Amino acid sequence: MEKILTLGIETSCDETAAAILRGGREILSNVISTQIPTHQKFGGVVPEIASRKHIVNIMPVIDEAISKAGVKLEEINQIAVTYGPGLVGALLVGVSAAKALSFALKIPLIAVNHLEGHIFANFLSEPSLEPPFLSLVVSGGHSALIVQKNYNEFELLGQTRDDAAGEAFDKIARVMNLPYPGGPEIDKLAKLGNPDAIKFPHAKVSDFDFSFSGLKSAVLNFLNSAKMKGEEINFADVAASFQKTVIDSLVEKTVLAAEKFQLKKIVLAGGVAANSSLESTLRKSCEEREIKFFYPSKILCTDNAAMIACRGYYQSLEKNFASLDLNAIPNLSFKGA
Ligand code: KG4
Ligand code: ZN
Repeated sequence: MEKILTLGIETSCDETAAAILRGGREILSNVISTQIPTHQKFGGVVPEIASRKHIVNIMPVIDEAISKAGVKLEEINQIAVTYGPGLVGALLVGVSAAKALSFALKIPLIAVNHLEGHIFANFLSEPSLEPPFLSLVVSGGHSALIVQKNYNEFELLGQTRDDAAGEAFDKIARVMNLPYPGGPEIDKLAKLGNPDAIKFPHAKVSDFDFSFSGLKSAVLNFLNSAKMKGEEINFADVAASFQKTVIDSLVEKTVLAAEKFQLKKIVLAGGVAANSSLESTLRKSCEEREIKFFYPSKILCTDNAAMIACRGYYQSLEKNFASLDLNAIPNLSFKGA
C-alpha cells in the first residue's frame, strides 16, 4: 500500500510553516518562514503583525512545501494543523487554511496540540524511538514533564507554576539589551561566562512542577543593585549563572521523574531544547544513570510543521479527526489523552 501523505501546517506564533510527511516519519519537505526579523525591532512578538504576516505567507509556504516534496496537491491524503496553544489570530490563519484545503480536496482534517507536536519532533530525528518515555517540553510558552505512554496516550506529571523556561530566557535577555529571541543570545553569551560566579536562588516547588519567576526577579534585582552602586556588570557571568540555575532545576526534576516512574528513555522537546548547555547537562545525567537520551535536530526543536504532521499522522491511526467547525484554542491546555 502507498504510504499516507500528510500536509502539516503550523502558525501558532511567529513562524509560518508547512511540511509534507510520507508515512509517520519520513520528511519530504519542511518549509519555515520566520518572522523573527520583523518582530526583533519591537523586542518581542507583536500578535497583530504576526497574524497579518501569516496571512501573506501561508499559501506560498504551503505551495513551496508541496513543490519541494515533489508531490501534487491532489496526492495529499490528510491535513494536520496546530489549533492551540498559541496566539489566537496567528492560529486562526493556519486553521482556516487547513479547513479550506480539507473541504476543497475532500480529505480529513486533524487538530494537533502544539506541545504534543514538539514531543513528536523526536520521532522524526530518531526513527527507532518508541514509547514509553519521559519528555521534558521547554518552549517559549511551556515547561512540562510528560510521560508518553504510547503514541496516543500522555500523562502530565508537572509544569511551570508561572513563567516558562523560554519566557525567562527572553525576559532576562531583554533587560540585558540582547535582541529577541533571547534564548539563543543568552546561550551564546553564557559560553563566555562563569556559571558559578553568581548564586541565584532555586525555586522550591513541589513534585515535578517548575517555577522561574523568582529567579527572574533575583536576576533583575542583581542587575539593578549593581547599577545603583555603579558596579561594573559582567554580563557573560550573569547569563551563565542564570542559565545554569534554570538548567539545574530542569535536569534535576527530569531525572528524578524518570527514576520514580522507572522510565529508561528521556526526550527533550521545544525551542529551549536548542540550548547547548541544557542538551549536554541532561545527556550527561542520563548517561550516569543508563537512561537513553534523545533530542531533536536544531531545525526540529523550534516551531516547524513536520512535527505537527507527525503528531497528526499518529492521531489519524486512531481515526482522531476534526470536523470543519474546528476553532483555534489559544489557551489549549495539556490534558493528556
Ligand atoms: O518552541 P518554540 O520555538 O516556540 C514556542 O512554542 O514557544 O520556543 C521558542 C523559545 C523562545 O523563548 C526562545 O528564546 C527559546 O525557545 N530558545 C532558546 C534557545 N533557542 C530558542 N532558549 C535557550 N537557548 C537556546 N539556544
Ligand atoms: Zn513551540
